[in-house]
Amino acid sequence: MTTDRIAPGAHLLVTGGAGFIGSQLVRDILGRRDGTRVTVLDKLTYAGNRSNLETVESDPEQSARFAFVRGDIADPAAVGPLVASADAVINVAAETHVDRSILDPEAFLRTGVIGVHVLLEAVRHDTERAWAGERATTPRFLQVSTDEVYGEIAEGRSVETDALAPRSPYAAAKAAGELLVRAYHVTYGLDVVTTRGSNTYGPHQHPEKLIPLFVTNALAGMPLPMYGDGMQVRDWLHVSDHAAGIEFALRHGEPGEAYNVAGGTELPNREVIGRLLEAAGRDWSLVRTVPDRPGHDRRYAMDGSKLAALGWRARVAFEDGLPATVAWYRDNPQWVEQARTGEWDAYYTRQYGDRLAAGRAVDEVVDGDG
Ligand code: NAD
Ligand code: DAU
Repeated sequence: MTTDRIAPGAHLLVTGGAGFIGSQLVRDILGRRDGTRVTVLDKLTYAGNRSNLETVESDPEQSARFAFVRGDIADPAAVGPLVASADAVINVAAETHVDRSILDPEAFLRTGVIGVHVLLEAVRHDTERAWAGERATTPRFLQVSTDEVYGEIAEGRSVETDALAPRSPYAAAKAAGELLVRAYHVTYGLDVVTTRGSNTYGPHQHPEKLIPLFVTNALAGMPLPMYGDGMQVRDWLHVSDHAAGIEFALRHGEPGEAYNVAGGTELPNREVIGRLLEAAGRDWSLVRTVPDRPGHDRRYAMDGSKLAALGWRARVAFEDGLPATVAWYRDNPQWVEQARTGEWDAYYTRQYGDRLAAGRAVDEVVDGDG
């Protein structure tokens, strides 16, 4: 394994640390009790949930090494002082739901492009201060990106050198953010690393995404809106593996490089739905085939050998991770209820009202009739 580029006792700034993957990362890092300090900068959008950090904040030893700041990565006044005191910045913050990006793209651009630019400007300022001897460490910047930047791939697996070909506003914003990160490395010499993770699942994921939506609806006996024929393929990665892959790339990634964080479990949605129904003790009578997502990417698949060559691999098998995830949602109804407050009903009606009205039982669908 290559050298660890993060010193013991380092101070990490994690943006988006109240969300699904960010909070897993923060809980894992602080839970090791190795002296690392973490500051979270999170806007607490509908997707952010401070209770995801409850185990950290209620533990005296961990909370002594932790700070939470509510703020926007696109706000230079909030970002500047936090970057100034950090040894590394992990940018997890983003608007993350493809369907919402199709309904309202603007917030995706504000956080995914302007927000990334604001962070990079702060890191550039502090990199120049380090070069001038005005601070001890040169800040490292890790951009959390996604397999969606490659666009859909009919056969084979995307490798890091493939062209970026995003096809949704979400994916386009993520690709634009990545390109800025690369440009700041080439032009200003910033120490940057990018990770491209595959479809992530596990506890604490907002119930707008496929697995938590279908699990929570199934547990409540509500219909499950399957887009089109349900034969779209995703590569599933447990959230603890995704968080570990991000931290591994932060510590061992080469400056300026991008790394795929692949799950290694490629499945069509129908297979995922069948397995989650079984774990939830429900059957296919709840599933409705509904009008498809516009521009729906048919398949994502990534080659994970570049990160594997540095010594990283995913550990959680989908066969274990999925039933455990179903159990977590069953055991945490209050968390689900909290996530489904505020604008949830309006979003659900806008996204699914007409679709479910036009939906059909899956048994009625014949092959190729998505
Ligand atoms: P999430 O939606 O659960 O959480 C996003 C967090 O970012 C929330 O806490 C939210 O409040 C915060 N946030 C949003 N805009 C912000 C802003 N302007 N300033 C500060 N905070 C802001 O997201 P997630 O699923 O945990 O995804 C995290 C990252 O991983 C994203 O960058 C996403 O693109 C990437 N990713 C996600 C997946 C996946 O399957 N979930 C896969 C690959 C990559
Ligand atoms: O691939 C990584 C990406 O995975 C991340 O970058 C995104 O942040 C994350 O949201 C996720 O994007 P997807 O669009 O793949 O995930 P989602 O859970 O929205 O959908 C997974 C699949 O399930 C996709 O083929 C669409 C389908 N689906 C989804 C929903 C919400 C349905 O059939 N019905 C639904 O109601």
